[in-house]
Amino acid sequence: MADSAGQWQEYIRDVPDFPKPGIVFKDITPLLANGEAFAATIAEMAALVGSDVDAIVGIESRGFIFGAALAQKLGLGLITVRKPGKLPADVHSIEYELEYGFDRLEIHRDALSAGHRVVIVDDLLATGGTAAATVKLVGQLGATVDACLFLIELDFLEGHKALSGTRVESLLHY
Ligand code: ADE
Repeated sequence: MADSAGQWQEYIRDVPDFPKPGIVFKDITPLLANGEAFAATIAEMAALVGSDVDAIVGIESRGFIFGAALAQKLGLGLITVRKPGKLPADVHSIEYELEYGFDRLEIHRDALSAGHRVVIVDDLLATGGTAAATVKLVGQLGATVDACLFLIELDFLEGHKALSGTRVESLLHY
């Protein structure tokens, strides 16, 4: 429960036709603005993290919000996977395909190494392209993935298919 007003799920707002016509955007900002609802989501996420996990990997940008709070709750560090050109030190990067064109994600080369075990966090699983690229990026540094953890999964986009072979956990399915 978030508070006497209801469950934390009620703090996710549908915004029709954003960012373009036909898309119903799942707006998490009311949830973040409610301390009890936000804490309830982090507690549920924490219960899904394996006991042998060394670090949380947050995907830019909303993955940083949930990843940071989760890392703090578990006493773990946060590693950031960022859009190109944002990380200052030596990076390892991966290019991945979007619906139209390509994009790139980066991680600091010294952020992870063989033997590290991580949980990857983002707010929402859509087609799974970004999360799948992050799984590969982490694997290329020699680390293993305990799970990919999301607040919301849009089931009709079948993003879990892009993550086959990895444990996928989402608190809320639409
Ligand atoms: N990312 C992709 N689809 C989305 C949606 N419907 N709401 C919020 N974020 C999204």
